[in-house]
Amino acid sequence: MKLLFAFTTAFVCVGNSFVLPSPPGPKFGPKFGPSPIYSQIRGGSSPASPTSEPPTPSPTPSRTVSLTNHINYDEVPDLPLVSTTPEWKALEEHAKEIEETHLRDYIMDDERCDAMHVLEDGIMLDYSRQRVTEKTLDLLSDLAEAQLLRSKMTSMYRGAPINFTEKRAVLHTALRSRKDSPLRPVVDGLDVVDEVHSVLEQIKKFTDMVREGEVTGYTGKQLRNIVSVGIGGSYLGPEFLHECLKTEPEGVNAALGYTLRFLSNVDPVDVERTCSELDPEETLIIIVSKTFTTAETMLNARTMRQWLWDFMGNDPEVVSKHVVACASTSATDKVRSFGISDDYFFRFWDWVGGRYSVCSAAGAVPISLVYGFDLFSKVLDGARSMDEHFIQKPLRRNIPMLMGLIGVWNMSFLKYNMRTTLPYAEALLKLPAHIQQLDMESNGKHVTRSGKEVDYLVGEVDFGEPGTNGQHSFFQLLHMGQAVPCDFIGFVKSQNDLVVDGETLSSHDELMTNFFAQPDALANGKTADELRAEGVPEWQIPHRTFHGNRPSMSLLLPKLTAFHVGQLLALYEHRTAVQGFVWDLNSFDQWGVELGKKLALGIKDKLVEGRAGRTIKADNPSTKRLLDYYVNSVNEDEEEETGRKQPGWGKNGPAGSDFARQPPQPHNLKDRGTKLN
Ligand code: F6P
Repeated sequence: MKLLFAFTTAFVCVGNSFVLPSPPGPKFGPKFGPSPIYSQIRGGSSPASPTSEPPTPSPTPSRTVSLTNHINYDEVPDLPLVSTTPEWKALEEHAKEIEETHLRDYIMDDERCDAMHVLEDGIMLDYSRQRVTEKTLDLLSDLAEAQLLRSKMTSMYRGAPINFTEKRAVLHTALRSRKDSPLRPVVDGLDVVDEVHSVLEQIKKFTDMVREGEVTGYTGKQLRNIVSVGIGGSYLGPEFLHECLKTEPEGVNAALGYTLRFLSNVDPVDVERTCSELDPEETLIIIVSKTFTTAETMLNARTMRQWLWDFMGNDPEVVSKHVVACASTSATDKVRSFGISDDYFFRFWDWVGGRYSVCSAAGAVPISLVYGFDLFSKVLDGARSMDEHFIQKPLRRNIPMLMGLIGVWNMSFLKYNMRTTLPYAEALLKLPAHIQQLDMESNGKHVTRSGKEVDYLVGEVDFGEPGTNGQHSFFQLLHMGQAVPCDFIGFVKSQNDLVVDGETLSSHDELMTNFFAQPDALANGKTADELRAEGVPEWQIPHRTFHGNRPSMSLLLPKLTAFHVGQLLALYEHRTAVQGFVWDLNSFDQWGVELGKKLALGIKDKLVEGRAGRTIKADNPSTKRLLDYYVNSVNEDEEEETGRKQPGWGKNGPAGSDFARQPPQPHNLKDRGTKLN
């Protein structure tokens, strides 16, 4: 069996073992009930469940076993294409019934609305505006069971090499494990929880020392400007967190006097924007790159190193005091050869996927420098609480599981191939971008784990914008154009509520009126009869009719604190995993990004030729025309206009050209106080 072989090979390479209770449970875990992982280990029983769940096995003493001796993901069979299963076909049939219904009727049904909400860990999920019934949920539950969802989740938590194309475990949940967690995955002979906590301690010590001024820059100045250089998962998640914490009550005070900027794009304009008004002597550069090879990041890293050298000279101490790295252990040599000292290297591991790395050093170092380690720890607490919720709770009380299964339903059965994230919180402005990478890089696939071409829709196009801004941008399409399932995210309390004199509601309440109104507008729509009753002229009726029946779900959290941000982060990570598990994908590799990277390297060689005045040999006439135009015509215009050769456009290429490099200039900060921007 091909798949089994692949997993076995993967296991041998990763060499996992872990501590778990004995004896092992049923072959693929319990029926679709709560996973026994935490409850067994803690010696407790799983919480009461509204659905009929199998009893949790009674606790037994722990023992160390190897994955090879245990029923686990490496023994998950080569599943048939999910679309051929009876569970899938039942859902296809059921979708025809649902097509005959309208949300307008569903949301008037008291009993149904009551059943279609969950309140867990302070989070309310209302999915009564989804095009689902009790039968849909039962059928989705059957599908999840047939796809071994629980087993796959358990395998992930335990550190089985479920990212088998890269021979890696997927252990972002371990990044927020308690130090004394009874679940102790072992990878490459190392206890991952010990590893995680040793790095967290290193981060705490270092960031405390920077914040207390015990660690300073090369010229003795305090390091108050933090520039995080990274892209993709090494940027989007940390930036999302930063935006949330900027206005978080504790965050506001903790960050006084510090700036945090992200340099992600290799566009030199991003360098200019990042460096503007920064004093290099007060700047700490964090190079965040799991591989330490990503072309964009490494060029930006060299650019920033040059920027430091230009202002402070190229004594090796300039780099060792102003540059730190967050990278995978397998990039250790590359980190060292960049000039970064071992004390300033904050490691993470190959078992953390880039888009799942927010809780690793990638997020911990920049966030702790600016907000303090304690606030970052609260993010970890929130994420851990969601991890426990996800693995413990039965389906009808399991928020990520419900959201994931409904995602599968919407995409594969109701054929909505887009989805939008609409946080009614400005501080979540970067959440949609983070979800975009998280979900689209994870589930943007065309084959199953065993390499079979999928013949069903997987991987939504994700986009979004905070409300109410989005309402004045793309909501017209959501209401009257294509139907796109919406995730509304709101908070009971604002990070910063205002009450303006004479107003009947606080500003936050005003914002939230939209959060409550939009889902109803999408669900109900507006009929021609309703319009007529309002006196709308007949000729306008078609233009003002809303068909409605557009699904959405509403997530309501207490307040956007560090803890609840952590919950949200983990919630979306798990939703993505649920969908991938049910679709039987490997959601943890990203081979699709490789081809473009390789081609860019080829183009680089061609551009070097072109810049040296030699004929460009492109792979096809289309690319050749573009490259020729890029290299020749625009340069001539510019040179004519400015009377000066442009950077790197001389006949001898960049190195020998007469272009004088002009790094961004620092600004005089003398009168600016401590807050730099
Ligand atoms: O975009 C592809 C990707 O590999 C992402 O998965 C990753 O987050 C990003 O590049 C950055 O990679 P690295 O952290 O290795 O620089």
